[in-house]
Amino acid sequence: MHTILVASSKGGAGKTTLSTQLAGHFAAAGKRTVLVDADPQGSSTRWCEKRAEMDAAVLPINGHSRAFRKHLPEDAERVIIDAPAGAMADDLEPFLELADAVLVPVLPSAIDLEATVPFLNTLATVPRIKKGKLPVALVANRIKAWTQISQQAVEQLQAWPYPLVAQLRDSQGYVLLAALGRSVFDYRSEQMRSHQDDFAPLLRWLKKHS
Ligand SMILES: Nc1ncnc2c1ncn2[C@@H]1O[C@H](COP(=O)(O)OP(=O)(O)OP(=O)(O)O)[C@@H](O)[C@H]1O
Ligand SMILES: [Mg+2]
Repeated sequence: MHTILVASSKGGAGKTTLSTQLAGHFAAAGKRTVLVDADPQGSSTRWCEKRAEMDAAVLPINGHSRAFRKHLPEDAERVIIDAPAGAMADDLEPFLELADAVLVPVLPSAIDLEATVPFLNTLATVPRIKKGKLPVALVANRIKAWTQISQQAVEQLQAWPYPLVAQLRDSQGYVLLAALGRSVFDYRSEQMRSHQDDFAPLLRWLKKHS
């Protein structure tokens, strides 16, 4: 079982989008995939419910209480945990315990970059992270590659102490797919392939740490 925690205390950074897209990737690749929804808003759970009839279905698990571990099927191959906004490392302890990797999505704006720093500081106090035993990576989300603001944000993120492992484009495709319970990995069109390509370095990083 390989467990990925997607977390940031900053609201709206793309935790649910990244969690669902990654779950969709693993499920489409034939892995038994579970999505632990730790957010009372329930968006990840609804996304799973919308694809329940698909071959590449993802099992939703309620992550609101510590009891969530009891509900994890023993044969699960990939577990993605979608953390709620506002949660710092202390609040995420039961998830950090289980995690093999942590992904922190960040939007390219000063407000988001600055709000993410205190969260990363709390992560840096987690013993497994301090010892280099639990890898953490950044994912720039909603990147408009042609804009100076996005380029500057990416440069800033590249100077942070965790690797920047993907730059996901800003795309209405993600808004649409969220509503449909789908991921970019469920399609083969040219447009969806270009979105899939954004995930390639992130997927390589995850593989290296699995
Ligand atoms: N790459 C993207 N391109 C376009 N829209 C996006 C992208 N990523 C996320 N969004 C949209 O931005 C909004 C916030 O994203 P999302 O819900 O994934 O963030 P979150 O971190 O889970 O939020 P919360 O903190 O409320 O749980 C959603 O409407 C989502 O569809
Ligand atoms: Mg969310």
